[in-house]
Amino acid sequence: MPIRTMRLPADTDVVANLLPAAFQYPENPEWSLTRDEAQAIVDMMRSAKRLGFLLVPLALVSSSLRDAFGGFIWEEDGKPVGLVNVSRLGMGGTWTIGNVAVLPAYRRRGLARLLVEAAIARARERGGKNVVLDVIAGNVPAYELYRRLGFEHFNTSTELEYTRAEAPQTPALPSGYHANRLPLFDWRQTFALTSRITPAPVQRFRPVDAAELKVPLPLRIPFRLVVALSGSHPEKAAVVADSPREVAGLITYEARRRGVNQCELFLDPAHAAIGPYLVARTLQSVRAVSPRGAIQVSIPTWEQPLLDAALAVGFEQRLEMHSLGMVL
Ligand SMILES: CC(C)(COP(=O)(O)OP(=O)(O)OC[C@H]1O[C@@H](n2cnc3c(N)ncnc32)[C@H](O)[C@@H]1OP(=O)(O)O)[C@@H](O)C(=O)NCCC(=O)NCCS
Repeated sequence: MPIRTMRLPADTDVVANLLPAAFQYPENPEWSLTRDEAQAIVDMMRSAKRLGFLLVPLALVSSSLRDAFGGFIWEEDGKPVGLVNVSRLGMGGTWTIGNVAVLPAYRRRGLARLLVEAAIARARERGGKNVVLDVIAGNVPAYELYRRLGFEHFNTSTELEYTRAEAPQTPALPSGYHANRLPLFDWRQTFALTSRITPAPVQRFRPVDAAELKVPLPLRIPFRLVVALSGSHPEKAAVVADSPREVAGLITYEARRRGVNQCELFLDPAHAAIGPYLVARTLQSVRAVSPRGAIQVSIPTWEQPLLDAALAVGFEQRLEMHSLGMVL
């Protein structure tokens, strides 16, 4: 069969060339991979490639790293025409499938189905408990493909983008709260907050799993190197309520001098009052590093107060994404 295992970093260029060619949607140009997004993927992969000498020996001793860069490539007459990535999330039981892509001239021949089946089989062989993936709402070919393979739709999120040059003023925190910067590899605060607020139907397919959030010690230095080489400045911060003493909100972002800036925000709906602070503080910090790059965040529909706070400061809705999952 013309399907082969993806070998990274050796296959970096295959991925870097194929993704921008496949992720074009002439009927929905707003879905197409932008040059900045393609650049961010290429930057990340090229830095991983430069670190290949370090990652290859580490992968021999770290099962988490070994499972982090999996994938398959479909070749026709020696030419790569389709691919899929499959990765374990941290050391946890959840695996994720991404970058499902077949070049336009090779579609509707069952290639994607076989690639995704191979990815599911890889997760199962390696002891995975569940597989998740995201698809743009309205991407009928992909949604139908996954539904026919047995995936169930368990969550919907709004992807937002902030493109203004100026960041809003960060409002003072309401009384009864204080903000802390967190170490980059802190997982306890994220676990405490997300396990408390994530609805049970979502956790059925995407359980909050401490093993997923912990970055194993041998991977921390290479992780920092990949981040530094790709020109990214990550930061993590928490807002803690004094009474009851609990994490009320979390910010994680990667600011970069060029390309798109990705952020992750969590807000306990019971502490909706800190939403404006969380959003404005994130924008200010990212703009300090990235004066012009788009700032993106994805907010699930069950985080309505966070969505309201983001829209209020000038984030714009970009896309709606569906999350689909399968319990193995
Ligand atoms: C989505 C994509 C990967 C499908 O690749 P493909 O090789 O054409 O898919 P397959 O031939 O394996 O199709 C398998 C099943 O998916 C569904 N499907 C695929 N394309 C479809 C379409 N255009 N309309 C409706 N259903 C479709 C069908 O159920 C199909 O089975 P069938 O052909 O027996 O009816 C391809 O269209 C693509 O690369 N799109 C751009 C990138 C993308 O959006 N990736 C998904 C990101 S989540």
